[in-house]
Amino acid sequence: MPAVDGGAGARGLIVARAGLAAVLAGSVVAAYAAGRLPFPVQPVLALVAATYGLSALYLVLARRAPGSRRLVEVQIYGDVVLETALIYLTGGPHSVFPLLYLVSILTASIVVAPAQSFRVATTAVLLHGLLLWAQFYRWIPPIVGEAGPRNLGMEGSLAILLISGNVCASFIVAYLASHLAGRLRQVHGEARRSEASLAALQVLHEDIVQSVASGLLTFDRQGRVTSVNRTAETLCLRAAADLRGTTWDALLAGAPPFATAWATVERASARRARFEADLLRPDGTAIPIGMSVSFLRRGRGVICSFQDLTEIRRMEQRVRHADRLAALGRMAAGLAHEIRNPIGAIRGSVEVLRESLEPRDDDRRLMDIVLRESDRLDAIIHEFLQFSRPPRLVRVPTDLGALADEILLMLEHQQGAPRVRIARPDREATIKAQVDPSQMRQALWNLCLNAVQAMPDGGELRVGVRAPAPAGGPPVAEVVVEDTGIGIGEAALPHVFEPFYTTKTRGTGLGLSIVHRIVEDHGGEIRVESQPGAGSRFTLLLPIGEV
Ligand SMILES: Nc1ncnc2c1ncn2[C@@H]1O[C@H](COP(=O)(O)OP(=O)(O)O)[C@@H](O)[C@H]1O
Ligand SMILES: [Mg+2]
Repeated sequence: MPAVDGGAGARGLIVARAGLAAVLAGSVVAAYAAGRLPFPVQPVLALVAATYGLSALYLVLARRAPGSRRLVEVQIYGDVVLETALIYLTGGPHSVFPLLYLVSILTASIVVAPAQSFRVATTAVLLHGLLLWAQFYRWIPPIVGEAGPRNLGMEGSLAILLISGNVCASFIVAYLASHLAGRLRQVHGEARRSEASLAALQVLHEDIVQSVASGLLTFDRQGRVTSVNRTAETLCLRAAADLRGTTWDALLAGAPPFATAWATVERASARRARFEADLLRPDGTAIPIGMSVSFLRRGRGVICSFQDLTEIRRMEQRVRHADRLAALGRMAAGLAHEIRNPIGAIRGSVEVLRESLEPRDDDRRLMDIVLRESDRLDAIIHEFLQFSRPPRLVRVPTDLGALADEILLMLEHQQGAPRVRIARPDREATIKAQVDPSQMRQALWNLCLNAVQAMPDGGELRVGVRAPAPAGGPPVAEVVVEDTGIGIGEAALPHVFEPFYTTKTRGTGLGLSIVHRIVEDHGGEIRVESQPGAGSRFTLLLPIGEV
């Protein structure tokens, strides 16, 4: 991890070194001019010149390989060597310049890497030690002339003191510098990371606001729109740019004026108020909306989140309608029940009268009409009650084939259409299902009766019972009632199961409704297929259950 851009680091070092060398040269010359220096001035100036020469070389190298970290390192270690030379030239053990090592150690930690400062410190300590050692043993001559005899003991302890002082100072500075530079980097990294996560958070926030299913509008304190999300644009049928600046009162009808709404929110316990209003749209339409209004922070305005209530209103209306119908149905059932008794009484009385009065011709015919029509009325009411007050299911294992045969036998004896042939296909095995036999009998009877009525000129009635191989779901029994009668037109097909839908002059339109209800109560399904002029097929699918 490079601490700073290598190119900038290399050039910065060159400039700083040049400045430092200039200051050094200046002060040495000034001190020389002012009085006597403890060391000769020329070698120091030569070293300064050499420093400039090296710097020029570094500059060329920095141009050639911009951003090189290696060059920065070479410069720092080169500086340590230059500093050692300066210490030698300015008096060896008497020089004040070991201080300059600290500058290089600091630079290494800041410009290259915190750990580098220890390496530079080690190099500096070794070179310094080597210099003093060499001077002590006279491997290299002292630059400052010696006056008087050498005091070996004093020189040795001075060298040891200086070396250990330099060791302490260098390593303490290296430690502090690496620690501080490390912290600095950490803080930089944290700042960058939190900047990145802040940006990500902002994107997420914007995403959420834009994609919520509710419309969001914010208003300033004057009640003008300040921001809009996508749903709000869709519901208002206007683009955000167009909506901004529109006033609360121009947008909403049936809501309290903005000032009143503001006061209501202020008074509300949770500082949130609900309103219902009509959202006015540019095409002249309005949709009902339910909105929740609360304050933005620091009193900058209000935020209003709202939903389209059109579908809910429609549903409410449907439920109200269905409720009314259900109540009406209950009333009709009660009424029908009440009508049965007087009809029974009328029929009974007329029957008695017919016996006792022995009316002739017209009178007898009239009495017959009364009897026949009261029978019909009673049958209608009976059917209606069966439909509206279905008896509870009593399921028992029932042989569906036998049940169908029973119905067909009844039909053969009862029917006034002898030209209808009756067929019983698919009757090899006994198929049992958990059904209510009396209700199932009713359903089959209604289907067969319709089939016979659809074949006034004769035809064939087929009633089949099968147990098809289960296709994934639980096993079912299939009862098919098929005729070759007049069929049902495509337009009528969706209506045949509706109560009171009939195409017959004397029909009630309740037969198939009852079948439908019974099959549904059994958890089954009824399907119808028909070709006008060719015939119809009703298929009952009944779950077999545990038999
Ligand atoms: N097998 C069938 N063939 C042709 N039309 C039928 C058949 N079954 C029912 N329909 C049509 O469905 C209508 C409703 O039947 P249903 O509910 O039994 O009432 P209804 O028999 O009293 O008319 C009938 O009027 C008739 O138009
Ligand atoms: Mg019928």
